[in-house]
Amino acid sequence: MAEPNWKNQTMWTGDNLPIMRGMNSESVDLIYLDPPFNSKANYAAPIGSKAAGAAFKDTWTLSDVDAEWVNLMEAKHPALHRVLLAAMTPSDKSYLAYMAVRLLEMRRLLKPTGSIYLHCDPTMGAYLKLLLDSVFGRKAFRNEIVWSYQRWTGATRHFQRMHDTVWFYAMERAGFNMLKEAYSAKSKHKGARRTVFVGGQIEQSYTGDTSRQKAMRDVWEISYLNSQAKERTGYPTQKPLALLRRIVEASSNPGDMLLDPFAGCATACIAAEQLDRQWVGIDISEKAAELVKRRMDAELGLFYKGAHRTDIPKRTDLGKLAPYNSASNKRNLYGQQEGQCAGCDTHFEARNLEVDHIIARVKGGTDHLENLQLLCGSCNRIKGDRGMEYLQVKLQLKGF
Ligand SMILES: C[S@@+](CC[C@H](N)C(=O)[O-])C[C@H]1O[C@@H](n2cnc3c(N)ncnc32)[C@H](O)[C@@H]1O
Ligand SMILES: [Zn+2]
Repeated sequence: MAEPNWKNQTMWTGDNLPIMRGMNSESVDLIYLDPPFNSKANYAAPIGSKAAGAAFKDTWTLSDVDAEWVNLMEAKHPALHRVLLAAMTPSDKSYLAYMAVRLLEMRRLLKPTGSIYLHCDPTMGAYLKLLLDSVFGRKAFRNEIVWSYQRWTGATRHFQRMHDTVWFYAMERAGFNMLKEAYSAKSKHKGARRTVFVGGQIEQSYTGDTSRQKAMRDVWEISYLNSQAKERTGYPTQKPLALLRRIVEASSNPGDMLLDPFAGCATACIAAEQLDRQWVGIDISEKAAELVKRRMDAELGLFYKGAHRTDIPKRTDLGKLAPYNSASNKRNLYGQQEGQCAGCDTHFEARNLEVDHIIARVKGGTDHLENLQLLCGSCNRIKGDRGMEYLQVKLQLKGF
């Protein structure tokens, strides 16, 4: 397991993909993500609220898909690629490709003892579950947490949509702190059971002791932040602290490192701070970092020493990585590709194949085997620093 290459209490402004690519592997204990939902809405905070100026896009078109991601998945993650093909519309496909490539990074960042919680709503929840199953494995699935709430809505021609879903996955060696909740007021299990005789019949009655608690269920009734709530920042899609505190308590311990790659106003980071965990947040909106600072100042006062970064970090755990065109990489890739060029699919002797970066170094691609493939000299020359899409179009024109 590597040490993080960032300090506790770091908030990054920028796209989380290149930033995560620069973070050390196996350096995070808990990931909570609350990504855009593909809701076809553009969110903006009301003018005058603390979050005014925050806005993020939640509409997707195919042009958003970087063809290189899809190619990377086709080459290296066929199961994940099949999920993308199952998408119903170009917009869904675009959204899923965007999420898939980020989930692959999150898996690399999680320790073998780590856990991940993905927050979504019914729009894309089922598709995201398929992505999670492909990336983390079905065995890692733990719970479908239903966050149930009440809020004002207009008239609808369907049942009121009053829940979000949080998919919870845990790596093989992850710990779990079972949380407790009170028995409901109506529950028969209110307190200890007593056997009494009534009219010659045996009957059960209960002591009425409400201090007894039971293991927490996967349905969480937590009220939605109303417009008067004290913790409300005005940030669109802000989640309640009570929800995040449960997640942090259940799947981490004091001192552990939490990552929220879609931090928003950083509710997860605040919960981590309150519970003595370390944290790092990323958000593409500049407003997010500003709000985090304001929330942390209010929480911690002078003790808040957080860092705000906008750079792409450089991994410090790559010391032992072989040069990209090393003999061992070539041997591995030759076996994986069964001796064929990844461009024209022609079989070659190993000495006639060259190691290529699927995503070019200049675009943030690394020297990991994951990002490497073998191409014949001719395909490699055509592709250059471009994506596989370009090579494939060129090959089609040549009649391949
Ligand atoms: C649903 S909100 C998160 C709300 C957060 N959980 C809270 O309680 O405030 C999603 C966030 O993801 C951010 N976002 C969208 N695309 C991003 C990207 N590529 N990288 C980093 N952040 C992104 C948006 O700016 C937005 O703040
Ligand atoms: Zn070729």
